[in-house]
Amino acid sequence: MTWLRTLLGCTAATACLLTAASAEEVDPASIVAAQLAAGGNQPGVRASGAKGICLTGTFSPASGATALSKAPHFQKTVPVTARFSMGGSNAKISDKTKPVTRGFAMRMNDPSGDMVFVVISAPVFGTRTPGQLLEALRVRAPGPDGKPDADKIKAFTTQYPETTRQAAWLNARPVPASYAGVDYWAVHAYTLTNAKGEATVAKLKFVSAEKAGLSDDELKAKPDSFYADELKERLAKGPARFDLVAILAEPGDPTADPTATWPEESRKTETLGTLAITGIEPDATCDARTFDPVAELPEGVAGPADDPMFAIRSPAYAVSVSRRTN
Ligand code: HEM
Repeated sequence: MTWLRTLLGCTAATACLLTAASAEEVDPASIVAAQLAAGGNQPGVRASGAKGICLTGTFSPASGATALSKAPHFQKTVPVTARFSMGGSNAKISDKTKPVTRGFAMRMNDPSGDMVFVVISAPVFGTRTPGQLLEALRVRAPGPDGKPDADKIKAFTTQYPETTRQAAWLNARPVPASYAGVDYWAVHAYTLTNAKGEATVAKLKFVSAEKAGLSDDELKAKPDSFYADELKERLAKGPARFDLVAILAEPGDPTADPTATWPEESRKTETLGTLAITGIEPDATCDARTFDPVAELPEGVAGPADDPMFAIRSPAYAVSVSRRTN
C-alpha cells in the first residue's frame, strides 16, 4: 500500500497523518464514484470537466524558458490539443454558474513525449488531501429529497476551513465572459530543471490576453450555454492567447498544500511562452483518452513529490477515462 502512504502524506520515518476519511476509503475509484454521484451519475461523462469543448493550437516558448527548464517543449513551437470545461460531472451545468471553476486541459506534443497541464480558473483547489476530497463530495451528495444536508456541509467546512477558500475566491470575482477571458492556474508547486541541473520551484499560471468578466445584468441576459458559440466567434477572428508564467517560490512558500496561495504580487515571475488556441476540434479528439497531468510530464518539469492531491490525480483520471470509454 505504498501509494496509500504517499497519498496520506507519510514517509518511512513518520506516522501517517489522519485525514478526513479513513485510510481505507482513500481510493481513487471511490473518489471518482463520489465525483460522478455529485453530478447525478450521468452516463459516459468525465468525473470532472464533463461539459467542455475540444481545441487545437500551438505553444511557442519565450527566450527565457530554457534558463529554467530543459523540456524540449521550451525549445521550439509545438502543436497543442486542449480542452476548456466547466468543473464537475454534470454535463448539463449552466455556463452561468458562479462558484465553479472553468478548466483548461492541454497536451503539448513532442516526438520525445508530451507535456500535459490541467489547470483551473482559481489559484487554489477545494481540498488539501484526498481524504478531505472524498468527504467533501460525500457531504454534498444529494439526500433522499434531492438536496444535500446543509448541517453536514456546515460541520465539514467548520472543521476544515481551508475547503472554503476556492468558492470564496470565485464568489469574489465575476463569471468569466469567455473560456478565453480568464486566467488559469496549475495550482500545485512544480520543479523546473534546466540543462545545468539547476532546479527552480514555481507555480504555473496561464494569463489570458483578453480578460473579461460579466456584470450581474450581463449574466442574467445570457443563455445557459454561451461559451461554445462565443469561442467559435472569437476564434474566427484570430487566436485566443495565454502567456504561461512561472511564479517563482521564496523560502517558506508551501509546496504540498493545494488550498494555500502564495503572495503572487510579491513573487518574481518569468514568462515561459505563449499558448495560442487557434480552432475547435471534434469532441472525439479529446474524448478518446484523458489528459494526465502527473504521468505526462517531460524531463525538466516535475510535479510536487509531497502533495498527495497531485499524486492521486493520475490513478483517478485513469479510472474516469476507463469508466466513460468502456
Ligand atoms: C489542483 C488540482 C486539480 C485541478 C486543477 C483539476 C482540474 C481538472 C480539469 C480541468 C479537468 C477536465 C479535464 C478535461 O477537460 O479533460 C479535470 C478532470 C478530472 N479530474 Fe481534476 N483537477 C484537480 C484535482 C483532481 C483530483 C485531486 C482528482 C481526484 C482525486 C481529480 C479528478 C479528476 C477526474 C477523475 C477527471 C476526469 C478525467 C477524464 O475522465 O478524462 N482532479 N480535472
